Amino acid sequence: MSAVSPMQDAAPGGWIVLKFGGTSVSRRHRWDTIGKLAKQRAEQTGSRVLVVVSALSGVTNELTAIAEGAADGAARVAALEQRHRDFLADLELDADAVLGERLAALRGLLDDPRAATRPLDWQAEVLGQGELLSSTLGAAYLRAQGLDMGWTDARDWLDALPPQPNQSEWSRRLSVNCQWQADDAWRARFAAQPTRLLITQGFIARHTEGGTAILGRGGSDTSAAYFGALLGAGRVEIWTDVPGMFSANPREVPDARLLNRLGYAEAQEITTTGAKVLHPRSIKPCRDSGVPMAILDTERPELPGTSIDRSAATVPGVKAISRRNGVVLVSVEDIGMWQQVGYLAEVFALFRRHGLSVDMIGTSQTNVTVSLDPSENLLSENVLAALAADLEKIGRVKVIVPCAAITLVGRGMRSLLHRLSDVFSSFGHERVHMISQSSNDLNLTFVIDEADADGLLPELHAALIDSGAMPVLEKDVFGPRWRELDGAVRPRPLPWWHGERGRLLRMAQAGTPRYVYHLPTVRERARALKSVAAVDHRYYAIKANPHPAVLRALVEEGFGLECVSLGELHHVFAALPQLDPKRVLFTPSFAPVDEYAQAFALGVTVTLDNVEALRRWPEVFRGRQLWLRIDLGHGDGHHQKVNTGGKDSKFGLSAQRVDEFVDAARALGTTITGLHAHLGSGVENMGHWRQMCDELAGFARRIGTVSTLDIGGGLPIPYSADDEPFDVAAWAAGLAEVRAVHPAFELVIEPGRYLVAEAGVLLARATQVIEKDGVRRVGLDAGMNALARPALYDAWHDVANLERLDEAADGVFDVVGPICESSDVFGRHRHLPAATAPGEVMLIADAGAYGHAMASTYNQRALPDEDVIDGAAD
Ligand code: LLP
Repeated sequence: MSAVSPMQDAAPGGWIVLKFGGTSVSRRHRWDTIGKLAKQRAEQTGSRVLVVVSALSGVTNELTAIAEGAADGAARVAALEQRHRDFLADLELDADAVLGERLAALRGLLDDPRAATRPLDWQAEVLGQGELLSSTLGAAYLRAQGLDMGWTDARDWLDALPPQPNQSEWSRRLSVNCQWQADDAWRARFAAQPTRLLITQGFIARHTEGGTAILGRGGSDTSAAYFGALLGAGRVEIWTDVPGMFSANPREVPDARLLNRLGYAEAQEITTTGAKVLHPRSIKPCRDSGVPMAILDTERPELPGTSIDRSAATVPGVKAISRRNGVVLVSVEDIGMWQQVGYLAEVFALFRRHGLSVDMIGTSQTNVTVSLDPSENLLSENVLAALAADLEKIGRVKVIVPCAAITLVGRGMRSLLHRLSDVFSSFGHERVHMISQSSNDLNLTFVIDEADADGLLPELHAALIDSGAMPVLEKDVFGPRWRELDGAVRPRPLPWWHGERGRLLRMAQAGTPRYVYHLPTVRERARALKSVAAVDHRYYAIKANPHPAVLRALVEEGFGLECVSLGELHHVFAALPQLDPKRVLFTPSFAPVDEYAQAFALGVTVTLDNVEALRRWPEVFRGRQLWLRIDLGHGDGHHQKVNTGGKDSKFGLSAQRVDEFVDAARALGTTITGLHAHLGSGVENMGHWRQMCDELAGFARRIGTVSTLDIGGGLPIPYSADDEPFDVAAWAAGLAEVRAVHPAFELVIEPGRYLVAEAGVLLARATQVIEKDGVRRVGLDAGMNALARPALYDAWHDVANLERLDEAADGVFDVVGPICESSDVFGRHRHLPAATAPGEVMLIADAGAYGHAMASTYNQRALPDEDVIDGAAD
């Protein structure tokens, strides 16, 4: 990993600034960490260390209530005093000796004559007490531990900037910015302090008129940044309770990646649009003075964290996705003065009049829509109503609340648009009120209803990775997933083919391209599904892989078979002549009617999905029992092309026409004994099947004759290291719950991929290795004719050089086939041994489902051969 070593930037004799937030200063062991880190940094670099601290957690909120005149101010002050005394007891320090004076000062503020009218300068004094207390007790504790720790008052060093004309009285005192350019005299004075280690307060500064000024929310980060800039520090380290900045909020997206290294502009954008680990205001002082920043985890100081510096690599691509809630959209329609000079000025003057700062803007010929960010505005209903009343004079006003702003942040957003089709299709389900692209080409924001945003981020994050728009393979930028750091990743066993390398290489001698299926893996997956008690019957969707050995293995494991064509039915009975037709389902789509008739004749269970067939060919269906396939109106899947639900899908009877179907069937004496739905393939949303079961049960009750609910296939497998393995136990638990609600029905599944994908590999030989314009390509004798999934769905398949499995993957290649189509690419930027050469046997993993089954002889290239491995490894 090329993350900067923590100390690379620090120069001996200079300063390093370490900032610790509220949770990092509220426990004794955390102060031990602070002491250890300060000492370590000083020793490692020869630098002096300035520690900037926040108040104990929760204290600033209390002080805010007191400053705003809470009725029980005295009680709150007493509670704060007790809290600090308790903590000092825990630190084994004498409370009166350490904090006596400061606590008296806090009490004194309540008796201050200004307390009655609460002027802003008094409020600032009150608010600043938390940091004064925490820094004082911290310095005392660290000295007691033997550290040469000095204490200094931040107000002696940080000067608030003179009031700006546009600034409100409130922000002139309680949300100030500070001077961050220091002259030599300032630096010399600061350096003259006697100790090598110093502690000071975040959040407070000296006001131009004297007394305390407050930096506002996120103030401690900003204080640290100001000190970093003033001191020309080697580095500013923000110590917090997460291991750095992530590609999404890890609490919402456990797959979010740690961002190893960012430039200032991207970091600024990410923090502004949602990440809470660092306050956006703190970046500019460091950026302007070239001071590198780092975000680090107090509980796990050994982790590398996120580095922000000028020399971070400029990798194009989405770095993060964030969500802000509580966004208000204000739209003004039918603006009469369109094209008149100054009409926008007129609109925005009203926002200014109501003290509202505008975030995003969309305009059309007759409409102006703006978004207001709650973190930048005090958005009370009164303010909005007053604003709306004024805007009504210009046009028709609509206020849309609450909205969520979903933002993609990264370099070169404009050149990424072509990769965002899956992202756009995820939004397709929601109403997008507004899309805004920042003029610095660093962000793209979608505003949707807040309720629609729930659950959307993990989906979008996965789509960004899958499409290559978020280049997670760039190790300079992207680190491990949150789940890995959090210890929540189950170790994955090596794929079976690592243990079968010798045998696979021998098989390849007989000719490539060649599919090889590992039956022990098929059986293992079958047994995992058999253990799911909520499911009564299991059918294997043979379209995924109809190899006779696979069919036999699964039938031996108790699976029935699901077919979609007469060809598949004949194939099944040819491979398994003894198979009871009752163990076979027939689920065709737009099949010639003759196939239904023959299927009935074979005695298999037929599923029908439309009324028209009943009406047109009544004699085929009269008096029969059949299952009805319903489109429940929503679909899912790893790609739009495998989504089989909803209006755009050709599958299933519209839910609106179920009654019509039931009537038509009844008229023919046809009985509906089962209901079926299959709404997509490679579905990662665990709630998908529960919901289907629940919805089908509703229809089944209405129909009355139904005894079976078939919730289809669609179970996913982890194609890439980013994908989570399907959690069968969690899935089973969900089905058990919903099954308990509908005990009257038998539950059926019909998976394909899950059973066979990981059991199959495609062996191919490298044909040529060619470099062109900086891109190295390794060609294979298998192409999209042999495995269509990458070309068709941009699907990911791991690729390995089977002859160099133990060598480092130190080369980067595009892996391509021999077909005359641009889409004949198995994968781009794949890491393989650099020495990979023509003639070597390559392996494409997880190709057991929809591999050979979808192969063609395009370009007159022969179909791949197939082999089976059964029994133990050799
Ligand atoms: N049942 C029905 C009615 C189906 O149409 C399918 C798949 C399945 C079950 C099995 O779905 P599975 O468990 O394999 O997801 N060629 C695409 C997949 C197309 C799936 C078609 N229907 C791919 O390679 O991803």
